[in-house]
Amino acid sequence: RQPVIIDADPGLDDAAAILMALASPELDVLGLSIVAGNVPLQDTVVNACKIVGVSGRTEVPVYAGAAGPLVREQVFGKYARIGAFSDDLVARSGIEPSEEHAVRFIVRSAREAARAGEPITICAMGPMTNLALALIQHPDVARGIRQIVSMGGAFTALGHRTPWAEFNVLADPHAAEIVYRSGVPIVVMPLDMTFQALFTAEHVRSFSARGGAAGRALYNLFSTFDRSDIARFGRPGGPIHDATTIAWLIRPDFFTSRKATVGTQVTGLTMGYTYADFYQKMDRTPNATVVTDVDEAGFINLLIERISLFGSA
Ligand code: BDR
Ligand code: CA
Repeated sequence: RQPVIIDADPGLDDAAAILMALASPELDVLGLSIVAGNVPLQDTVVNACKIVGVSGRTEVPVYAGAAGPLVREQVFGKYARIGAFSDDLVARSGIEPSEEHAVRFIVRSAREAARAGEPITICAMGPMTNLALALIQHPDVARGIRQIVSMGGAFTALGHRTPWAEFNVLADPHAAEIVYRSGVPIVVMPLDMTFQALFTAEHVRSFSARGGAAGRALYNLFSTFDRSDIARFGRPGGPIHDATTIAWLIRPDFFTSRKATVGTQVTGLTMGYTYADFYQKMDRTPNATVVTDVDEAGFINLLIERISLFGSA
């Protein structure tokens, strides 16, 4: 089983991704390191605890991490008004975050993994502040990280949060740039790919029909907050961006990818604009695997199938 840390800012699609991971026997989820992003840290932490609670996997620890970005002023997600998930959407959990800081947890886990010769995968689903702090403060942790699978960036699907930027990179571009330049193998899951898989109301209903308490919580979240954008996608449904990072670990054959040099602008009007140099025009050795395409039906069915495992527990 692949040892995995989930670094997240729940968040609706983070919630789906976390549940998918917790349902998947291929993955050994060591813990959730939580960061501010979609909503402030106190809310992302409550939401993470609630999600772990409805999964029944109460042994999986939740760690609170960075409350804001490294340099820029803080921005929150499009659904910031959600705040902490209300009790009628996701039941209260009784789970508390661990005492240890999320950055310490990442450092400790990566060092243990390096010593054991079994490096960990980190799925990054929010602003990458926690990861950047771990890598700056203790560069040796890179040796314990097999790969960072980062949902973030946009290369042609621009105009998500600003005319140039995708939210996770926009919210902490300095952190993203530190991670991109860290030397750790990076898999970039950009909007260009996540926009290809749209979950309709019918897909969302199947979470509740088959997924027990976890599935009902997901249904409540996704049916309460409309994520469709017909003007943009030309058809009904909305992406569940963050869950693609988990699907990549389980079924890489659902995806197409290319090597590239990836980076981001950290200041000015185009802050958070990500570039991918596929043709090595910059004369830099590619630092990333950029995932360009996804098998829509394969990914959607996999997520639904994994959530339905909670119903059979
Ligand atoms: C990313 O930003 C957040 O709104 C989502 O949780 C996802 O991680 C998509 O741009
Ligand atoms: Ca997220």
